[in-house]
Formats: sequence, C-alpha cells, structure tokens
Amino acid sequence: MLIHKDMKMADVIHLNHHLLHVINRFGIQLGFGEKSVKQVCELHQVPLPFFLEIVNTFHDSTYFPVESMLQFKASELIEYLHQTHQYYLDFRIPEIENYIRRLTNDNSFDEEIKVLLLDFFRQYTHELTIHINKEEQRVYPYVLALEHYLQDNKLEKELVEQLKAYSIHEYEEDHDDVESKLFDLKNILIKYIPQPKDSRILNLILHEIFELEKDLNNHAHIEDLILVPIVEKMEQDFLTISNQDKTL
Ligand SMILES: [Fe+2]
Ligand SMILES: [Fe+2]
Repeated sequence: MLIHKDMKMADVIHLNHHLLHVINRFGIQLGFGEKSVKQVCELHQVPLPFFLEIVNTFHDSTYFPVESMLQFKASELIEYLHQTHQYYLDFRIPEIENYIRRLTNDNSFDEEIKVLLLDFFRQYTHELTIHINKEEQRVYPYVLALEHYLQDNKLEKELVEQLKAYSIHEYEEDHDDVESKLFDLKNILIKYIPQPKDSRILNLILHEIFELEKDLNNHAHIEDLILVPIVEKMEQDFLTISNQDKTL
C-alpha cells in the first residue's frame, strides 16, 4: 500500500517507522497530531507530489516512477539529496562507529580482529565521504548554476564558459564501489567475525548496515536515474540557448 495525501501523517509512521528519517529530511518532525500528509506538507511548505514520490520510493522498493520523477526540479532533488548526505555523515555513520567501538570493548575479542573491523569501517567511511564531497562541491553547484541560468537567462560570460567546460558525463558513476565495500563489510560480520560473548551488539551493527545500505541504494537510484537525465536535458537546452545568443 502506497502512502497517499489523505492519510494521517501519524498513520504513515505506524505503517512504516523507517520513513521517519526520510520525512525529517524535508524539515518535518514528529508531533503531527491528526493532520493529514497534505496538511503537514502545506504547513512546512513542502511540495506534496515531490514528498509523496520520494517517500513512496523508500516505502516500496518496487515503486520507482521514473517518468513522473523526471518532472521534478533539479534544485528540489538536490536539497533532498543534500539532507540525505548530512544524515549519513552526521548521524548514521557515527552511530555505526559507536556500535563497533562497543563491540571492540569486549575483552573476549581478538585484538587483531578489532583493529581490522575498525580500519575497514573507517576506510569505507573515508571513501563515502570523498564521494559525497565530490557531489556537494562539484556536481551539485554545477547543476544549480545550470538551472539558475535556464530560469533567468542572465549570466556572466565567465559563468557560461564554466558551464560549457563541464558536463554531467564527467560525474563518474562510482556508486557501485561504495555499495560493494558495504557488502564486503556485511560479509566480514556475517561470515568471519568469531562470536563474542554477547552477540546482540554484533546483530545490531549488522542491522544498522543493512539500513544504511537500503538508504544508499535509494539515494544512488535517485541520482543516477532521475538527477542525471534531468541534467542531461538541461545541458541540451543550455547549449541551444547559449549557441543562439551571440553575446555569449
Ligand atoms: Fe549523493
Ligand atoms: Fe552519489
């Protein structure tokens, strides 16, 4: 069952509490009272169709309406993707690292394995951070400048040259690397870590990694299947306009 605009927002959380952190990315916090999804979105000035599609792609992994999502503005998508990056780096990753530290405090644990686990996770975090920084510092500013240009048609010649010098095709698809590293980490935990006295914390770490992986997959799908085609279309429009404008 998909989330729809007339459902009470409280019922959305009862239906799938994993959506809470997705909803938070729109600046919407708990305390919905009896308000519907539509009313809560209006209150927070969140575009309802955008909210529903994003939340539903997360709620139902078989739901990914590419055609309708290609109608979204790149800046809307980027704001959501940016909030998602913040969630990974400020909350989800430090939380997993804390759990791993708790596990490594267990004295029955082999010292070498503790070091291996923490090192592997830190290496993964480092790679994820590099990937996110590239998007935040290079890709997203380029896309926002392009959208701004197409909306206003008023740009400094210098900025037009910068836009011409870059293409979304340079946005190397390294999502696969980030995903496979997380898969390796799950396998280390599932297959090779000797069972500690209390395995509950190990189960918890694994659970957190599965949650992060699901979130990252959804995020990468939005970037690869929605953001990139939107930007390709914008680039075509940009080239047409800038080639026609002889002053640029
Ligand atoms: Fe991203
Ligand atoms: Fe990405």
